[in-house]
Amino acid sequence: MVKKAIFPVGGLGTRFLPATKALPKEMLPVVDKPLIQYAVEEAIHAGIEEFIFVTGRNKTAIEDHFDHSFELESVLFEKGKDDALQLVKDMMRVPGSVAYVRQQEPAGLGHAVWCARHLIGDEPVAVLLADDLVLGAPAIKEMVDAYQGGNMVAVMEVPEQETSAYGIVTPGADNGHEVTINGLVEKPKAGTAPSNLAVIGRYIIEPAVFETLGKQKAGVGGEVQLTDALAAQIGTSPFTGLRFTGKRFDCGSKIGFQKANIAFSLERDDMADELRHWLKTHL
Ligand code: G1P
Repeated sequence: MVKKAIFPVGGLGTRFLPATKALPKEMLPVVDKPLIQYAVEEAIHAGIEEFIFVTGRNKTAIEDHFDHSFELESVLFEKGKDDALQLVKDMMRVPGSVAYVRQQEPAGLGHAVWCARHLIGDEPVAVLLADDLVLGAPAIKEMVDAYQGGNMVAVMEVPEQETSAYGIVTPGADNGHEVTINGLVEKPKAGTAPSNLAVIGRYIIEPAVFETLGKQKAGVGGEVQLTDALAAQIGTSPFTGLRFTGKRFDCGSKIGFQKANIAFSLERDDMADELRHWLKTHL
């Protein structure tokens, strides 16, 4: 039912300067794979067939990553490096299933999503933020499997003192897996959060959200917030939070990014033993 996904990748990545001066932050690798590829693979697992990237200036490396690299492919082919060749080709999608639209200015997540409106029909669409990296079960697949209409977000409990960094939910009926969302506020000031249940960067949004985004004024940080558009929908359509089972890493922060690199490395047969040994001797 959910066949399209939007990947907002227009952000400047200022928290990772100087690394992100010329390199899109979504191309930063965890172990050996760029963040954006993890997000796209998660979407593929969920049955997504069309991939819409909302990009900006200096983001062409992302387009190149999902295209042929003829020189590299021919060299790998000639040298018989089949495994490497497969890795390079793995990311090729069906021709015409990947679209790029430019955001032109970093005016917020809501604005980025709205920029994709002409590529979305009368259908629900997934939104994935590559900064939020999930280890284990693909969160967006769990959401697509559970989705029964309306809007849906991935949620998890965060420490009280971190609520001001997230969209925070006012929870209603809660069966431990799905939570009815009665309210949503973007980055509440310290001490004002309605709960510590935070939205993580996985969404399924219905077409009405685009209309709301089109009318929307700037919210927190002077930016058009997806959170505000979703909150405006409450009362007119169902709004559900799904507690996903994977482990989420905040790769928008340096510490989260380092934790992700360690956690993902410890999952790898070719690295786990040596890394575990090294960590034990150094801690
Ligand atoms: C965005 C959303 C926020 C959400 C967060 C999850 O914020 O605006 O509601 O909780 O992603 O990572 P950002 O981290 O881009 O500031």
